[in-house]
Amino acid sequence: MKIAVFSAKPYDQKYLSHVFTHHHGSSNNSPISAELTFHDFALNPETVPLAHGAEAICVFVNDVLSAEVLQGLHALGVRAILLRCAGYNNVDLPTAEHLGLFVANVPSYSPEAVAEFALALLQTLNRRTHRAYNRVREGNFNLDGLLGRNLHGKTVGIVGVGKIGLALARILRGFGCRLLAFDPFPLDAFREFGEYVSLEALLPQCDFVSLHCPLMDKTRHIINEGTLAQMKPGAILVNTSRGGLIKTRSVIAALKSGHLGGLALDVYEKEGGLFYQDHSGEVIQDDELMRLMTFPNVIICGHQAFFTEEALTEIAECTRRNLEDFVARRHCQNSLVHEKVLKRRESLPVRI
Ligand code: NAI
Repeated sequence: MKIAVFSAKPYDQKYLSHVFTHHHGSSNNSPISAELTFHDFALNPETVPLAHGAEAICVFVNDVLSAEVLQGLHALGVRAILLRCAGYNNVDLPTAEHLGLFVANVPSYSPEAVAEFALALLQTLNRRTHRAYNRVREGNFNLDGLLGRNLHGKTVGIVGVGKIGLALARILRGFGCRLLAFDPFPLDAFREFGEYVSLEALLPQCDFVSLHCPLMDKTRHIINEGTLAQMKPGAILVNTSRGGLIKTRSVIAALKSGHLGGLALDVYEKEGGLFYQDHSGEVIQDDELMRLMTFPNVIICGHQAFFTEEALTEIAECTRRNLEDFVARRHCQNSLVHEKVLKRRESLPVRI
């Protein structure tokens, strides 16, 4: 089967090629012979024709899977969308379902990878190690401006306690933090670490707030003028989830006024078209991003919280398992579309 892989960086090519070449199918299935074509650019309306001849495409967080793109892919004969990520806010699922497309994600490749990175960002900002690193390299050993706070005894708010939020709770317990969480669907597993409260109750009490809920209509701009005003003065905000959770204009205002004590981002509202590419020789046109970069108490990373060897291995292996389910026309536990799509697909040819 031909698979067009979009946004394929050298590390994706390495891990996917390894898993698709050396794996021989799950237990009682014959191996799938997959021919991978790697494109290092993203999928969008202009690049759809590159999927010509492929029955499946493999995509990542900033690929565009709008109705227009899905219809174009379907017309080319693509029948399966394999996401190499957990979040699927970039996929028009109703259109995919209407077209009878198989869509599957990798729901959990390494919650610890993201939780550990959130903690790394939080402590970098809190203890100013990003500034210390540069100073010491210049021979400046002055400590002015590097004062931090102990995590021990502080209150940390986790917004969204799923796999990643829970992994962060486990880590923060080791630091001796008091944990508060907001999640409309509470998990019993969190109750041994802390207490569920409303978002309105959480924000004024927390010294640090970390976002771990998915991006949906309900959570878009969950951090805005109103919720920022509710936060404790001087609190640090960490977002390793999705950029759209934060209204960028509002955090800039809160940083300028000094109400927000620091901001650590691994994701950014308008990261598509910027992240995962080298723009160092260009003039970046996004004025809000560039303004954020001027604050000494802001750290921005390019969506790398997931980026560990363990996570890349699981992403490649889970993508392979999802493809096996598609080819075998059996239930896929990571399917994002209704089972009826699989049934409808039984009448379609599958080229293996
Ligand atoms: P999950 O599905 O296990 O947990 C998400 C939690 O958010 C659930 O408990 C859910 O009930 C909760 N939630 C839903 N609506 C909410 C709301 N309105 N307010 C607060 N909480 C709400 O997902 P997981 O695996 O923990 O991942 C969380 C997010 O992390 C993903 O949606 C993805 O956007 C992001 N992510 C980022 C990565 C990175 O490299 N930066 C890598 C992997 C995931």
